[in-house]
Amino acid sequence: MRRAKISIIGAGNVGATCAHWAAAKELGDIVLVDIPDKEGVAKGKALDLLCCGPIERFDSNITGTSDYKDIRGSDVVIVTAGIPRKPGMSRDDLIQTNVRIVKSVSEQIAEYAPEAIVILVSNPLDAMVYTAWKATGFPTNRIVGQAGALDVARFRAFLAMEIGCSIEDITALLLGGHGDTMVPLPRLTSAHGIPVSELLSSEKINACVERAKMGGGEIVKLMGTSAYYAPASGSIQMAEAIIKDKKRIIPCAAYCEKEFGVGGYFIGVPAVLGSGGVEKIIEIKLESAEQKLMSESIAHVKDLVKVVCDLFPELA
Ligand code: APR
Repeated sequence: MRRAKISIIGAGNVGATCAHWAAAKELGDIVLVDIPDKEGVAKGKALDLLCCGPIERFDSNITGTSDYKDIRGSDVVIVTAGIPRKPGMSRDDLIQTNVRIVKSVSEQIAEYAPEAIVILVSNPLDAMVYTAWKATGFPTNRIVGQAGALDVARFRAFLAMEIGCSIEDITALLLGGHGDTMVPLPRLTSAHGIPVSELLSSEKINACVERAKMGGGEIVKLMGTSAYYAPASGSIQMAEAIIKDKKRIIPCAAYCEKEFGVGGYFIGVPAVLGSGGVEKIIEIKLESAEQKLMSESIAHVKDLVKVVCDLFPELA
């Protein structure tokens, strides 16, 4: 059987941690790509991780490079290139630098891995997904953003801590952009089928919603840089669903035309991920208060896309 190939662009905190999770799950061979100045870092991290194989018992080949030719034949490319947040910054503050980086990275992906499914992780995520779509020219099913996998994991973790039950037993749904306007849906959140409203007061649920929304910022404040374990874990959950054609339902930034009244933007929605990338978007009926929050989130994503188009009119 042919091994899958996963290329990870950016060998920093998120990229290297993606490589770590992917190797641990033995998803396939891994290529870590960074800029020429950091080629040694990419090569060194790849070699260090490869040497875990005998202990952790995975056979993945892991290499580092600054040459985009090495991503040829990738099934999945994960884009983590870009600057992370510092305390006091919002994800949106990164847009000017990261849109330039993600545009150039996307052009290389289009040239060397034209059949790949691309998972965007760089922030502000909703703007980066749009940039990659325009700069690669790939069909919308092969461009997807990692946000919901992380945001819903944070929401689940905070709820489990509050309820005092296993994180594994919480299932939840979350929509919208990857920022303060994300829309966790307590109505569709349960502990092994038991609605969370049966287990927690509305004040406690709201506190978990707010903590999930600000979870990234909470970590930036503690560490001085943005999170990477859970963002990488969410990205590899998506890569695994695609590589193994699992048809998993994962909230992710997918292109929506009519769904949820989005009108032609990438935004967080429940999507089926399989070997075709985003194979289906699952549209659910929202209550009016939920739709109002979703519409506010869509408006915010549109504003971000406008900034991208003002910076690079060729991406409009
Ligand atoms: N090609 C490849 N790698 C690049 C490029 C490029 N054109 N430009 C920058 N990089 C690399 C940097 O050299 C660096 O090694 O991307 C890496 C980013 O790593 P970190 O600075 O550690 O940032 P990280 O914490 O990994 O976050 C990366 O993911 O979650 C988001 O908000 C986060 O936008 C940020 C991104």
